[in-house]
Amino acid sequence: MKVLIVGSGGREHAIAASVAKSPRVDKIYCAPGNAGIGQIAECVPIGAMEFEKMAVFAKAKEIDLTIVGPDDPLVGGLADVMEAAGLRVFGPRKNAAILEGSKAFSKDLMKKYQIPTAVYENFDDPEAALAYLETARMPVVLKADGLALGKGVLICNTLEEARKGVKTIMEDKKFGAAGNRMVVEEFMTGREVSVLSFVDGKTIKIMSSAQDHKRAQDGDQGLNTGGMGTFSPSPFYTKEVDSFCRSHIYQATVDAMEAEGRPFKGVIFFGLMLTAEGPRVLEYNARFGDPEAQVVLPRMKNDIIDVMEACIDGTLDQIDLEFEDNAAVCVVLASEGYPASYEKGYPIKGLERFENADGYYCFHAGTKQTEEGIVTNGGRVLGVAAKGADLKEARANAYEATKWVSFDNKYMRSDIGKAIDEA
Ligand code: AMP
Ligand code: GLY
Repeated sequence: MKVLIVGSGGREHAIAASVAKSPRVDKIYCAPGNAGIGQIAECVPIGAMEFEKMAVFAKAKEIDLTIVGPDDPLVGGLADVMEAAGLRVFGPRKNAAILEGSKAFSKDLMKKYQIPTAVYENFDDPEAALAYLETARMPVVLKADGLALGKGVLICNTLEEARKGVKTIMEDKKFGAAGNRMVVEEFMTGREVSVLSFVDGKTIKIMSSAQDHKRAQDGDQGLNTGGMGTFSPSPFYTKEVDSFCRSHIYQATVDAMEAEGRPFKGVIFFGLMLTAEGPRVLEYNARFGDPEAQVVLPRMKNDIIDVMEACIDGTLDQIDLEFEDNAAVCVVLASEGYPASYEKGYPIKGLERFENADGYYCFHAGTKQTEEGIVTNGGRVLGVAAKGADLKEARANAYEATKWVSFDNKYMRSDIGKAIDEA
C-alpha cells in the first residue's frame, strides 16, 4: 500500500521509520518531510497546512493511508478535508482535535467528567482574570487557550508576575489569537510523565510511558523548548500509577469525547503530573509527542499500519499492543542558541555511521538536503536515539552515538535521563 505522512520533524521521521518496517507498505510519501525522511520516503513540497493541495495529491497518487503528525493541521481540520475527499486518514477530526486545540475546552471536559486535573477558571476578559488573581494562591499558572508552540504557559510566582502574564497573553497577544481566552490554574508539583495511546473512538490502548526534558539547559534551566530529549519507559510510571490512570483518566477521556459527540480516533497524548495526591492531567495532545515518538515507536512490536487501520475501523479491541522489554533514550542535537536565535546551513558529518547500527537511530528534524550534502536547517537538528537492555544502558548508548555526528554550533543537554538515577 501507499502511505503519506504529513509533517517534517523528528516525530515524522520516527513515524516514517516505523511505517517503513511494515511489509504491507510499498511506497511512502512525506509532505513536506526533511533530509532524513527523504532517505526512506519521497518528500513532496506541500506544506502541512495546504489542505486542498494535500487532498489533491493524495487522490492523484491513490494514497491508501495518510498519517498526520503535527498539531496545527489536526486542529485546523486536515483529517476532515482528507475524509471528505474519500481518503483514509489517521488522526482526529477537527471536532476531536479540540482536545489539544483549546485548553479551556479540555479543562471543562475534565471538570464535567471528573477527570483529575488542576483546579482552574477560564477567562475571556482580562479584567475578570485580574479580579480573580487578586485572591488566587501563588504560584499560579496562566495558559493561553489555543496552540502556542508549547510556549503559551506562564508560571507566575507573585501577583505582580500574574498581572503581567495576563497582559502578555490577553492584551499584548504574545501568542496571537491563542490568547483570546485564558485558563488560570492551580500550580502543582511532581514528576511529569508522557503517556501516548492509540484510540479508535471507543477503545484505548496505552503505549509505553516516556519522559521529556522541555528546558533548553542542563538542570532544567533556560527557556522552554519543543523538547531536548526523552527516555522510555519512565521508572516513575509504576503499576499503581498505571492502574489509577486506567481507572480515572484514560477510558474516561475517550468516553467523555464520545459522549460529547466528538469521537476521538488517533493518538491521545496524556501529559501527566504525578502529584502527592495522585496523577493529574496537565494537558492533552491530539498526536504523538516529539521527541516522545522517537523513543516509544522504536520499541513497539506491532506493525504500525495494523494499529492505525484498527483505529480508523474501530477494531482496536482486537489489537494486542506490545512493546519490547527494553528501554530507549533520545538526545536532541540542536543549533546553539535554540530556542532563541541561532544560525543554520552548516554541513552535518557522520550520518552514515547510523546506517547499519542496529538499535541506534538518527531522526532528522531541522535538516536540509543541498548539493553539498545535508546541512542544518532548524533549531532542533537531529534526535539521536538508542536502545539498551535498561535505561542506563540506553542512555550510555545514546550519548555515545551523539559523538558520531558533528556540525558547527552543535548543542545538546548533557543530562537527559538524569532522573533515572533517582528512581
Ligand atoms: P502544558 O502545555 O499545559 O503541558 O504546560 C507546559 C508545561 O508547563 C508542563 O509540561 C509543566 O511543566 C508546566 N505546567 C503546566 N501546568 C502546570 C501546573 N498546573 N502546575 C505546574 N506546572 C504546570
Ligand atoms: N514533547 C512534548 C510535545 O510533543 O508536546
